[in-house]
Amino acid sequence: MKKANIAVLVSGGGTNLQALIDAQKAGIIKSGEIKLVLSSSEGAYALTRAENAGIAHVTVARKQCANRDDFEEKIIEQLENAQTDIIVLAGFMCILSEKFTGKYANRIINVHPSLIPSFCGEGFYGLHVHEAALSYGVKVTGATVHFVNEIPDGGKIILQKAVEILDGDTPETLQKRVMEQAEWIILPRACEKVCADIISK
Ligand code: GAR
Repeated sequence: MKKANIAVLVSGGGTNLQALIDAQKAGIIKSGEIKLVLSSSEGAYALTRAENAGIAHVTVARKQCANRDDFEEKIIEQLENAQTDIIVLAGFMCILSEKFTGKYANRIINVHPSLIPSFCGEGFYGLHVHEAALSYGVKVTGATVHFVNEIPDGGKIILQKAVEILDGDTPETLQKRVMEQAEWIILPRACEKVCADIISK
């Protein structure tokens, strides 16, 4: 059966990448195959996870690129080499330009650790998202997987899952619960859904 070629873009620890790798092994992702892991930072633990799973991996260090255009051109070169059909942003901490998102319209998905449209957009990433949810005092948060367009966290929503906030939560405890109860579940499911759509066309 034909499969969509998946490239996963990461910047850090890569627990969402691990969820994708595990889902592929478990057959939850069956319409696509992870062909490339690309990191925007050198030495990201996500690269070790790719290595352990026998997946091709590469670093395009944001810091070593002259500007965003240069950074994105280098990424596109890697994506084209891997004949990428779908790009999954899994803890990728760089905002992509309109030029880039336009080139891959409906082909880029992102996982965000809140229920969009709450606590999202520029400046809301990683632990900051959970700090904002706790400081606002919401009782329910969660995660969202959405298509990526030119508006940060503004593309069409694919899947969402709610997670309870508990008394005494810290940004760290909340981040862990949101990952375990939402992100690691909905990211692989959304990835499979988009891959299935792509290969059916
Ligand atoms: C995850 O919580 C992901 O949702 C978040 O960063 C973390 C990365 O963890 N992404 C964003 O905030 C993007 N706006 P991971 O490297 O262990 O997957």
